[in-house]
Amino acid sequence: MKLSLGSLLAFTSSLTLPVISRSSSVIIPPTIQNGSTISQYISSSYRLDDSKVLNINSTVFGEVWYFDVVSSKSPDHALVVAFLASATDSGYASSTAVSSILSAQVAVRAGNNIYAEANLANYAELQTLGIGTSGFWNGTGCSFSASKDLSRMTIDLSDPFDITGSIILESIAPPHLPCSPNEIGANMEFAPGFGWVNAVPYAKTTVDLRINDTTVQFVGNGYHDLAWGDTIFSETLPNYLWARGTLGPYSMVLLVGVDASGVQRTSGYISRDGKILGTPCSGVNVAVEFADKNSTTGPVKDFTVEIPIENDLFFKAYITAIAILVDTDPRYHGMGFISGGIKGGDLNYNGTASFEYSQPLASFQT
Ligand SMILES: *[C@@H]1O[C@H](CO)[C@@H](O)[C@H](O)[C@H]1NC(C)=O
Ligand SMILES: *[C@@H]1O[C@H](CO)[C@@H](O)[C@H](O)[C@H]1NC(C)=O
Ligand SMILES: *[C@@H]1O[C@H](CO)[C@@H](O)[C@H](O)[C@H]1NC(C)=O
Ligand SMILES: *[C@@H]1O[C@H](CO)[C@@H](O)[C@H](O)[C@H]1NC(C)=O
Ligand SMILES: *[C@@H]1O[C@H](CO)[C@@H](O)[C@H](O)[C@H]1NC(C)=O
Ligand SMILES: *[C@@H]1O[C@H](CO)[C@@H](O)[C@H](O)[C@H]1NC(C)=O
Repeated sequence: MKLSLGSLLAFTSSLTLPVISRSSSVIIPPTIQNGSTISQYISSSYRLDDSKVLNINSTVFGEVWYFDVVSSKSPDHALVVAFLASATDSGYASSTAVSSILSAQVAVRAGNNIYAEANLANYAELQTLGIGTSGFWNGTGCSFSASKDLSRMTIDLSDPFDITGSIILESIAPPHLPCSPNEIGANMEFAPGFGWVNAVPYAKTTVDLRINDTTVQFVGNGYHDLAWGDTIFSETLPNYLWARGTLGPYSMVLLVGVDASGVQRTSGYISRDGKILGTPCSGVNVAVEFADKNSTTGPVKDFTVEIPIENDLFFKAYITAIAILVDTDPRYHGMGFISGGIKGGDLNYNGTASFEYSQPLASFQT
């Protein structure tokens, strides 16, 4: 498969808004590239999982196709799968080798057992059919595939990966961009130099894995997004909180952070029974309580979230941290319970959630 990355770049209008016009198959090489990395931040198609970055150099965040699942019953059964094209992000399972910027990484928590594995790829290939994008990280044994309408995604893990089996996501909640539904011409830049799109905010998900001699099976809520950047991530979003959960008919996704200039950035998403109720980037409130009440660092005990939705209503939820899956201090990835609903109405819905944050965290109000 041949690809000339440079020639695929087109520019729209006189504004320099890069639009990376891709063919339906794209190869990402494993080597760090020289020169400037170029990212796309204005959507030009409904294909959320298209590669958004060209020419990944040694200093930028690059691109990460991220998936996670948490059991509907117990937050201590959960997993993360990430497909990385990044010279700088350490991801979720450490790999000391630096011979490739491409890796497939998996971390699984089953009760008190945590399993993690990473494998480097020779190249990555992305293929798009309809609005569904599939990704093959050659040499890792890991791939993801999507149906044409994005209603179903499957992650396959096989030899030479130790963790093998499948994860099947059946999408329920509609996709979104940071401050809008999935629209053409809309902004995808959450903070300067950092893009984020959420193809699958909530999917009914079936996990069926074998890890050496252990079988890990559960049903839960699954999630998938794509994050990318042409800046150094730790400088672009020095501290952030991402959380998502499903409770009764509602699905919530939250991303808040402080950007390089100290400005608070927020994005909230609420859907009900597969219909979007709000995608605001302002009016979002997050209060953080730490396990050590007097501290503003260390493990978080809970988050209280308020997100404005249609008809001047507010969605309100309370997320309690129960388990940690990845601890790469100052970054934590964990799971918990979520409860809440519409403020002033029925607040008794509950379910499970996952979250990730990078310290130091404070409360957010935009
Ligand atoms: C980047 O530049 C160095 C020094 O000129 C060269 O050795 C290397 O092959 C280049 N890398 C790529 C991917 O072109
Ligand atoms: C990588 O690309 C970014 C964005 O264009 C640029 O700011 C940075 O200087 C580049 N880094 C290197 C090592 O070329
Ligand atoms: C990975 O790439 C190599 C080299 O192109 C090829 O021989 C091999 O079949 C590929 N593996 C898979 C699983 O596609
Ligand atoms: C599977 O077992 C082997 C041998 O004990 C071990 O090296 C490997 O890390 C295990 N794999 C996982 C994913 O735990
Ligand atoms: C936390 O702060 C309060 C009020 O300043 C103080 O009374 C309490 O002893 C502190 N607790 C800890 C664990 O430091
Ligand atoms: C969730 O709500 C149901 C029904 O009200 C209740 O039985 C269950 O204990 C609650 N679960 C949690 C984790 O709060």
